Formats: sequence, C-alpha cells, structure tokens
Amino acid sequence: MKPLSRLVESVPGSPTTLMMQKGRELAAQGLDVINLAGGEPDSDTPKHIQQAAFDAIAAGDTHYPPSFGKPELLDAICAKLERENNVQAVPDQLVVTPGGKWALFSTLASTLNEGDEVMILDPAWVSYAPMVRLNRGVPVHVPLPAADSFRVRAAQLEEHVSEKTKLIMICSPSNPTGRVLTQEELDDIAAFAQRHDLYVLSDEIYEHILFDGARHRSIASMPGMAERTIIINGFSKSYAMTGWRLAWLAAPLTVAKLARTYQTQTVTSAASFSMVAGAAALNGPQDCVHEMVDSYVQRRNFLLDALDEIPGIRSSPIEGAFYLFAKFTQSDKKSLEISQVLLEEGLLATTPGIAFGEAGEGYVRFSFATAMGDLEKTVERLARIVPGL
Ligand SMILES: Cc1ncc(COP(=O)(O)O)c(C=O)c1O
Repeated sequence: MKPLSRLVESVPGSPTTLMMQKGRELAAQGLDVINLAGGEPDSDTPKHIQQAAFDAIAAGDTHYPPSFGKPELLDAICAKLERENNVQAVPDQLVVTPGGKWALFSTLASTLNEGDEVMILDPAWVSYAPMVRLNRGVPVHVPLPAADSFRVRAAQLEEHVSEKTKLIMICSPSNPTGRVLTQEELDDIAAFAQRHDLYVLSDEIYEHILFDGARHRSIASMPGMAERTIIINGFSKSYAMTGWRLAWLAAPLTVAKLARTYQTQTVTSAASFSMVAGAAALNGPQDCVHEMVDSYVQRRNFLLDALDEIPGIRSSPIEGAFYLFAKFTQSDKKSLEISQVLLEEGLLATTPGIAFGEAGEGYVRFSFATAMGDLEKTVERLARIVPGL
C-alpha cells in the first residue's frame, strides 16, 4: 500500500482525550476511577437552552442552516461582543462553527501559508501546536517560566519572533495554568503584535469562569487591535454545551471571508438546532452561568485548602477556568510518570504537564469540574500517594 499522510502521522493524538479514554476503560472494568483529565463542565446544559432546541426540532428545524450561522445567532453574538467585551462586530465578521476546535482550526487554515510561524505561550492547550502543524505552519514555543508565575514578558516575546512569524495565540483564562492575563501583559502583547504586524488569535472560551475578582478583557477591544485579532469563543464551557458542538470566531472581514469559504468546503455549518440553543443561551438569563461559576468557586477553594495540607504538591494560583495545575515539589519523576502512578495506584485520571509543552514538565493538570464527592476522594488518594512519589 502507498504511504499515508506523513503530516497527519507526525501529529500525536490529543493526550487529554487518550487519558479520558483510559479512565473510561478502567471504569468499565468496575474500578472506581475518577476522571480529572477532561475539560468539560459536569453540569447538564441548562433546561431553557435544551428546551429551545427541542422546540426547534419539533418545528422541523432539522435542515441545513445558513453555513456561517443563523441570523438570530449572529445578531446575539454581535450583541454579546458589544455588551460583555466592548468589541464592535458586524455579522459578516463572524463564522459559527461546530465547536471551538473548528473555529481555531479554520482560523489557522485561513491565515497561514506554508512555513509561517505561530507563537504559542507554553504551557498551552494541547491542541494548539498540532493544529498549527496540520495547517502547514511552524509552532514556536515561548516557554513562560513557572518561577515567574507563567507571566508573559515583552522581552521573551521578542526573543521568539522572526520574519516568518504570522500569528500569536493567547488563551485567557488559561487552560492549563488558570492564569488570567493582566492589563500589563495584554498591553505588552498588543504592542508586540502591532510592532511586528502579527495577528492575535485570542481564545476566550473560559472568559466567564473567573475567581477572586479576576476580570477578563478581550485584547480585540484595545486600541489598534480589532483589525488584527481573531476571537475564538463558544458555548462548551460557559453554558455546559460540550456535546452540542457550537462556537464561533469573530475576525477582521478579510479573515472571516476566507474562513467562510473554508467552512462551505469542509463542515458546511454547525448543527441547526444547536444554533437555536446557542441564541437562547446568549439572549436568555445568565443565572445558570453564575451558578456554575459559584460551584467551581467552592470546588476550587476546597481543593486549594486541602492541598495545602499535603506536603509535596503545590497548586499554581487559579484565577480562572476549572483546572488545578499542580507541581509535585518533592518528586524527580517526569509528569507522564506521575500521571501514570496516579492512575495505577490512585485510579485518578489526570493530564501530565508535558502535554502542554516543556514548560509544563513537573506539573499535572486536574479538572475540578468534577463532583465534590469525587474531589474529596481525590484528596484522600493524593494524601496517600504523593509522599511516595
Ligand atoms: C483552551 C480551549 N480552547 C478551545 C477548546 C475547544 O472547545 P470546544 O471544541 O468544545 O468548543 C477547549 C476545549 O477543551 C479549550 O480548552
């Protein structure tokens, strides 16, 4: 047989998906595995959002929708961008996509030429670098030192830029570190992007999940940034809608035009009734979002307090998103090995820090969008295992 795609062969499968899969397999054997590897709210989609989709299906809304998004959803997104992010966009700048992953992928497809470099701030979400490679770009990792609380510094950005740099990817609140970019960091990134004429791909999917008064600001709202920023956002995390596959990108018209062409020739559209549900989510009451965030606050505080009592494991500060990014301070083991021990000895499925780039080595990511009872068991198991690591 002739060789298959070398490009796809060169890309690893998503480690979080693989770890979740392994956890599910052990659970299927009857073992009490706690799945902390995924990135998914444990709540069900709020009832009024579900109902909007049921009604749409019952009314026969089961045909191809407009490829870039139903007008009512595009309007709802424009209103949301203005209301919450101080970003002015018209519907032509938007593409509604089946999931945030596709919004990221089609943005990269629409902006990159072969060999273009994309700066990724490590530790970064597992899919960024593979997506850049699948779009014939070159990921350039900018390691943010843990000792500096994973802060972005202008000097570090300058060290990694070249003539070939086209785009910089940012994610705030961050998966996996839980950092929320400060105004100073955003100023530095904005000035850097303008100085080197770069696009900024701003992944804002965790924007509502914030703690201790942390505030989210979209870099697109800053002077001179709307024309070079592509915002990625969606419904998976804020509204517990991971299975509905619904997100969007908001881009300068030139980029949106190509992303729209790309969409028509690939996935066509997101699901019709998911879009109706999305409009209900954005236009409806937001109490459901606040309730979910309150429940994350409780779980985050529980974990931070509990880990304080276990020597050998230390959490990074968690300002947003629902991940605990923990350092194993007394262990020489690599993060992959630590995750394996946690799975084998503690039946805890986690994601090793190395999956988020070299800068994540020594860390393990735990999702705390997990039932409180399971988090209590997690802490008990960690207290037993960590001293021997
Ligand atoms: C940082 C980040 N961006 C984007 C996504 C994509 O989410 P989805 O494709 O479910 O909308 C995720 C999901 O885990 C994520 O963590």
